[in-house]
Amino acid sequence: MSYPEMRLRRLRRTEGLRRMVRQIRLSTDNLIHPIFVQEGIEEPVPISSMPGVYRLPLEGVEGDAEEAVELGIPAVILFGIPAHKDEKGSSAYDDDNGIVQSTVRAVKARLGEKIVVITDLCLCEYTSHGHCGVLKDGAVINDETLKLLGQTAVSQAKAGADIVAPSGMMDGQVYAIRQALDDNGYPDTIIMAYSAKSASAFYSPFREAAESTPQVGDRRSYQMDYSNPDEAMREIELDIEEGADMIMVKPALAYLDLISRAKSLFGYPTAAYNVSGEYSLVKAAAEKGWIDEKKIVLETLTAIRRAGADMILTYHAKDAARWLREGK
Ligand code: PBG
Repeated sequence: MSYPEMRLRRLRRTEGLRRMVRQIRLSTDNLIHPIFVQEGIEEPVPISSMPGVYRLPLEGVEGDAEEAVELGIPAVILFGIPAHKDEKGSSAYDDDNGIVQSTVRAVKARLGEKIVVITDLCLCEYTSHGHCGVLKDGAVINDETLKLLGQTAVSQAKAGADIVAPSGMMDGQVYAIRQALDDNGYPDTIIMAYSAKSASAFYSPFREAAESTPQVGDRRSYQMDYSNPDEAMREIELDIEEGADMIMVKPALAYLDLISRAKSLFGYPTAAYNVSGEYSLVKAAAEKGWIDEKKIVLETLTAIRRAGADMILTYHAKDAARWLREGK
């Protein structure tokens, strides 16, 4: 049957009908709230390129995470900014005094299983040169970096992280981390792999937030060329073979094709990172009154779900949770 007997507009006539046939739903269950925690500050520090986002002192994180729980958000991801940076990023794997380790302990002591704590697992915020691994003659050395990533994973797991999220794009990092966790008595710690992470201009506000801009060069020798969708699938496939429990595509909005393909090829729990630049674009246009922020954000997050993401890391997580509660 086709027009004039068949009319698709019939099912769009009232809100009740539209609700009945709505296929993709965005829920607070899908959201992950990112938190930046900085060592040695007393008050929240606003990030100028990300209005509404702050670097928090350790003492501020528990309250922020608790608010996420109250809004129905199941998980937070922590990014640490240490007071001390060196060539080998040693503050990343400092069991007793590491900023992320201390924060995980504090959040878990307060909220326990009410919140899933994810830790970003990378060296770039901890190295003096800002690269995601150990440098030798200006190049990031893969295999030496793996040892430090394994050590960092164990240290984060020991502090109580539920999920570690390696984001450095080193070859073999998921395998090295799985081995290190298992060898040290953490077989239940989950790995969410930033598998298909492209070298992207959309990360620049994050680098202001995390103080992680490379001092020399850029990240194109380890992050992916965004022109290569087949390679993105190989990255994901290898991470799955190496033991990833969850995979990620990053950034999200300009990469919906990769999310869609990854979900249909692998059927794995799939995360998408709605990154800092995506957030800043929306904020800037909203501040000018050029767009309706709430509508744009709900449409964007639903589109990322429609592409196939189960989980979305987004700086709009709390706002979106409030808007979802209010209804569209
Ligand atoms: C690396 C890391 C980055 C982001 C998350 N983890 C930055 C980078 O690769 O430079 C970017 C997140 C964002 O832009 O929101 N630790």
